[in-house]
Amino acid sequence: MKCSRKFLLLLALVYVVIQYVAIRSFPSITLNICSVLHNQNRFQLQQMDPACLTYKKDSLRNTSPSKSHILILAATRSGSSFLGQLFNHHSDVFYLYEPLNHIQTALNSTHANRRMILGASRDLLRGLFHCDLHLLEDYIRPQPEKHITDQLKRRGASKALCSPPVCHVFSPQLVNVTESQCVQKCGSLNLTLASQSCQQRGHMVIKTVRVPEVSDVRDLLEDPRLNLKVIQLVRDPRGVLASRMMTFPQNYPLMRLWKMKHQKPEGLNLTQEPVCEDYRRSVATALRQPDWLRGRYMLVRYEDLAKEPRQKIKEVFTFLGLNLDKSVVDWIKENTHGRGSWSPMDVLSTNRDSATNSDSWRLKLSYDMVQYLQTLCQTTLHELGYTFVNSSEELRNLSVILFKKRNFWTSQ
Ligand SMILES: *[C@@H]1O[C@H](CO)[C@@H](O)[C@H](O)[C@H]1NC(C)=O
Ligand SMILES: *[C@@H]1O[C@H](CO)[C@@H](O)[C@H](O)[C@H]1NC(C)=O
Ligand SMILES: *[C@@H]1O[C@H](CO)[C@@H](O)[C@H](O)[C@H]1NC(C)=O
Ligand SMILES: *[C@@H]1O[C@H](CO)[C@@H](O)[C@H](O)[C@H]1NC(C)=O
Ligand SMILES: *[C@@H]1O[C@H](CO)[C@@H](O)[C@H](O)[C@H]1NC(C)=O
Ligand SMILES: *[C@@H]1O[C@H](CO)[C@@H](O)[C@H](O)[C@H]1NC(C)=O
Repeated sequence: MKCSRKFLLLLALVYVVIQYVAIRSFPSITLNICSVLHNQNRFQLQQMDPACLTYKKDSLRNTSPSKSHILILAATRSGSSFLGQLFNHHSDVFYLYEPLNHIQTALNSTHANRRMILGASRDLLRGLFHCDLHLLEDYIRPQPEKHITDQLKRRGASKALCSPPVCHVFSPQLVNVTESQCVQKCGSLNLTLASQSCQQRGHMVIKTVRVPEVSDVRDLLEDPRLNLKVIQLVRDPRGVLASRMMTFPQNYPLMRLWKMKHQKPEGLNLTQEPVCEDYRRSVATALRQPDWLRGRYMLVRYEDLAKEPRQKIKEVFTFLGLNLDKSVVDWIKENTHGRGSWSPMDVLSTNRDSATNSDSWRLKLSYDMVQYLQTLCQTTLHELGYTFVNSSEELRNLSVILFKKRNFWTSQ
């Protein structure tokens, strides 16, 4: 009698445990079936298995509105590091600096064409915005083992990858940590931990110069599982060219020659250089204000950002629905007055006084070079609100402002 009561009790206990385990494991089974359908879009969603549909709807409701995804599109040397750093210093942001360069390197030897690279870039961006950093493993060389790598380019440029839970060497504030200190002290990067860190933060920001036009990411903007907004950063093309000449002199031999000899070299043809045409095309779509950009796009001029950083940054953060937290404000204060320590590799775009820096091309290019560029970039300059200079005096006199105040369509 005594024995059978004990037995019954045990049986009841076992029953409870089994029920509990079943309840616990059921959602994760559903989740696995459904995650196969992870890449389906909204229209295919309607044909899905009902259990899956419920899960999908829930996940849409749960993830889309709260987590924001932000893509900073820019051209090289247009000051995007400066803008990127603002987000990097926000405590609720997971920031990645140029993850797409791994694609370019990995696919370079395979004769992949532009479309293939763009397709791969889009897929990678989508995955990264979902905090799946393991996707990078397909492109990192040598290929990571057990999700560990020390080959992630510019890892140190991402504060989230230099602070807990990814790296426990530095405090989360990381006030004075440089990129190379991060790379040296933090050791290899565990991509699983990086993905977890990404999941813990409210916003995911990716900066890239490797998406030529905003229409290249239209799929992502229309993806209901993402809450994507694009900030496109532009800069006076005259400034972009001067900066590129300094940074990549080997790409502009004739312009260098021009500068040295004070005379336009024979055979110079910048029409082939990626200066104005690319630029014009990259903003042309947005200036037409298509519906799919509504509420999701903002055009920012680097000069506005440099001249009145606080005002402009406030506008950008408001548009994105981000609060300006203290570490961002501190960083602005420090880096708009010529002091700063975060990113030694970006001396040109961050560490000097940002307002002077955005004008420095006016002291580097000769007036005839500027004239030549103005002819070449006429449309772009006009569309973006930049003013022509009409004399060498105007060029050198930094009190003469060369960008008109302009309110761009922010698609709200
Ligand atoms: C791509 O390959 C070419 C030639 O094989 C090389 O010169 C170039 O540096 C490579 N580019 C990148 C980004 O690796
Ligand atoms: C960062 O470094 C600078 C100079 O090296 C120093 O003046 C400043 O106090 C440091 N800031 C912090 C918060 O440690
Ligand atoms: C990477 O991090 C994950 C999550 O914390 C952990 O399970 C795994 O063991 C780590 N990998 C290595 C090689 O330390
Ligand atoms: C410059 O290059 C473009 C495109 O290759 C060509 O159409 C144009 O005629 C060239 N201009 C000069 C002045 O050689
Ligand atoms: C140069 O001339 C153009 C056309 O007359 C004018 O619109 C522009 O404002 C002038 N530039 C400056 C800096 O005054
Ligand atoms: C520079 O431009 C400002 C504003 O147009 C003007 O007042 C000033 O006289 C100019 N300075 C020189 C040295 O030309």
